[in-house]
Amino acid sequence: MNKGIALTGIKPTGTPHIGNYFGAIKPAIELTKEYDARYFIADYHALNSIKDPQKINEMTYEVAATWLACGLDPKKALVYRQSQVPQTFDLSTILLAFTSKGLMNRAHAYKALVQSNNELNRDADDGVNMGLFTYPVLMAADILLFDSDVVPVGKDQAQHLEMTIDIAQSVNHIYKKDVLTIPKPLIRESTHTVIGLDGRKMSKSYNNTIPLFLPSKKLRKLLMKVVTNSQTIEEVKDPDKCNIFALYKLFASVEQQNNLREKYLAGGMGWGYAKQELFEVMDEMVSPMREKYNELMSNKDFIDNILDEGSKKAREIAFEKMKYVKNILGFK
Ligand code: TRP
Repeated sequence: MNKGIALTGIKPTGTPHIGNYFGAIKPAIELTKEYDARYFIADYHALNSIKDPQKINEMTYEVAATWLACGLDPKKALVYRQSQVPQTFDLSTILLAFTSKGLMNRAHAYKALVQSNNELNRDADDGVNMGLFTYPVLMAADILLFDSDVVPVGKDQAQHLEMTIDIAQSVNHIYKKDVLTIPKPLIRESTHTVIGLDGRKMSKSYNNTIPLFLPSKKLRKLLMKVVTNSQTIEEVKDPDKCNIFALYKLFASVEQQNNLREKYLAGGMGWGYAKQELFEVMDEMVSPMREKYNELMSNKDFIDNILDEGSKKAREIAFEKMKYVKNILGFK
């Protein structure tokens, strides 16, 4: 049986939060049951914005430990560092020759930066490095190097995937051959969006995140900050219009949800009580993962071993693909 290939890149930036867990990590791990998974740390992508070696290094471990602690099994999925698969950059250079500058001009991230420069009366290209400008090409190389069939990503990456498909099609068209596998985007819909402390979408840019592996005490303290209305204890409350309950549903069983719902509807329950309930279900679910995470973070050699092993296998696959591609293009 030939499984399809699922591939995604994880940028080592920012401490993972529960929005990342439910939105990206958990569904991607579930996908490893059906697909041959290749999940890598997109560390060269991070270089465009982070020039602090220690930060890059630390974030890489954080991200790898998070995914492993959440249940990513390196025996079932190839887990590697992008920077350790040099064929990626070989293919990326090739793809540049098939990518029009106009396509890159339309990339959202680049356009947003130019626009903000214009608004601030700065030179249009202020702070734009070529890594950022050609980011979609490197991403296309990440994907096309491994003959990816499906690529699970958030909505913000949809345009990058369209560009990947565009670039791959132009190669295939020119050589009249399926040189590169056209990937299918698996875009996560925003209906699964996890809300943050203030009820808006959980996002670093809103400063409303709940980090996944906060120590219990700090987690409890943070959850006490979930924004609620100002109803009194006696009042009957609507669980379906409540941030606490929305978060509670992510962690609680149906039975637990029904119990808490009744308390909302009966009146006589204060917000402090609901927050404590939320803390307890969340803490119970994340505790074993947090333990695993801390164990991994204190054993970086172990993480290195996994990433080195994965990278070695990834290089072998990538080597074969590049041999094939270079041959078709007329190179030895
Ligand atoms: N650009 C993605 C992000 O910012 C990360 C990424 C890099 C990626 N290469 C990839 C995702 C290849 C999917 C496939 O989240």
